[in-house]
Amino acid sequence: MKKASIAPSLLAADFGNLQRDVEMVNASEATYHHIDVMDGVFVPNISYGMPVVKAIQKHATIPLDVHLMIVDPDRYLEEFAKLGAHILTVHYEACTHLHRTIQAIKALGMKAGVALNPHTNVSLLEDIIQDIDVVLIMSVNPGFGGQSFIENTYDKIKAAKAMITRKNSSALIEIDGGVTTANSQKLVDAGADILVAGSFVFKSEDPTTTIKDLKG
Ligand code: DX5
Ligand code: ZN
Repeated sequence: MKKASIAPSLLAADFGNLQRDVEMVNASEATYHHIDVMDGVFVPNISYGMPVVKAIQKHATIPLDVHLMIVDPDRYLEEFAKLGAHILTVHYEACTHLHRTIQAIKALGMKAGVALNPHTNVSLLEDIIQDIDVVLIMSVNPGFGGQSFIENTYDKIKAAKAMITRKNSSALIEIDGGVTTANSQKLVDAGADILVAGSFVFKSEDPTTTIKDLKG
C-alpha cells in the first residue's frame, strides 16, 4: 500500500521552543518541514518571515517545503532559494504570470509548487501541469491552522490525479489543512502524495508517534 510523505506544519509549533520542535520533526518519519509564510494581505493573518525561516533552516536536517501565502511572490523567490527552500509553493490566485514564476523558481534550483484555494478549480492548471513539481490543494481556506477539513477535497484530488496521468506530468499532490488520522488514509487512496498537518501533530501528546500514524 502506498504511504504518504508527511510534512508537519511548524505554524503549530511552540515558537519559544522552535529548535526543539524542529529537531523532533527531523528525528521523526516526516519527509519535510512545512513552512507557512503569510503576509496579512493575501490571507488575513501574518505568520513569520525570513528570520524565522532562517532559524528553522539552521536546525533542519530534512528538506524545507515552503508555502508562500503572499501577494506578488516573485519579489522573494531568490531569498527563499538562499534560505534553502527545497519546494517553493506559490498560490495560483497570487500570480498573474504563473508560468514565468514557475520557471523562475526552477531556475533557482528549487522544486516549483502551485497551491489552489478551495474555490479554485484544478482544471485551471491544465496548461501548466507539466511544468509543476507539486500541486498543493488547500483543504481549508488558507490563513490559519486548526480549521476543519473541506470534504470536496477528495474530488479535487481525483481530478488532479487524472490530469497528471493524462498529461504525463510527474507532479506530486499535496494536501494542506485539517489533516488528521481520520482522513489521512482516504486522502492517500484518492491520490495524495504529501500530507501537511499542523495542529493535529503539535497538539497531540506524542507528536513523533502522531507523524508515524499519519504516514499509515
Ligand atoms: C493554513 C496553512 C496550513 C496550516 C495547517 O493556511 O497553509 O499549512 O498550518 O494547519 P492544520 O493542520 O492545523 O489545519
Ligand atoms: Zn501550508
